[in-house]
Amino acid sequence: MNERIQAAFNDQINEELFSSYVYLAMAAHFETLNLEGFTNWMKLQAQEELAHAMRLFDHVNRRGGRVVLGALAAPPAEFGTPLEVFEKALAHEQHITGCIHKLYGIAVEESDYPAQIELQWFIDEQVEEEENTGRVVDLLKLAGDNKSTLFMLDRELAQRAPEEDGE
Ligand code: FEO
Repeated sequence: MNERIQAAFNDQINEELFSSYVYLAMAAHFETLNLEGFTNWMKLQAQEELAHAMRLFDHVNRRGGRVVLGALAAPPAEFGTPLEVFEKALAHEQHITGCIHKLYGIAVEESDYPAQIELQWFIDEQVEEEENTGRVVDLLKLAGDNKSTLFMLDRELAQRAPEEDGE
């Protein structure tokens, strides 16, 4: 893999690790609100993001590239109401989708076909990520100030289990 692709993959590894950090901070925020289901959802999301970083990490190594890890920024500690948290999560996923599309564009410019194939998995995954996060945003909007609906949703999110491939 050429240096431009390698640098772009390393940047994306940092984005995915930072995503994991953001969702872990959101999990910690939900812990303080005693919303166990929301906490569970965010903890699993943090694990998925780590799996995304590892997928890119392995791709770079398998191609004879060099992984160089950069510094991680601190995520915020406060996120507001459950709706505000999920709106921020959705905005974050939209940002990541943009990063993946940009990375794919670089792989096309550099005629790196293995990178393009690898990134197609991420393009699909981002559709799923935005859909899942957006669904919770919609449900939270419907719940409004209704506490019992919020607790029902919390119970539903407690059911989220790790995906079989960890991604
Ligand atoms: Fe790895 Fe949620 O994007």
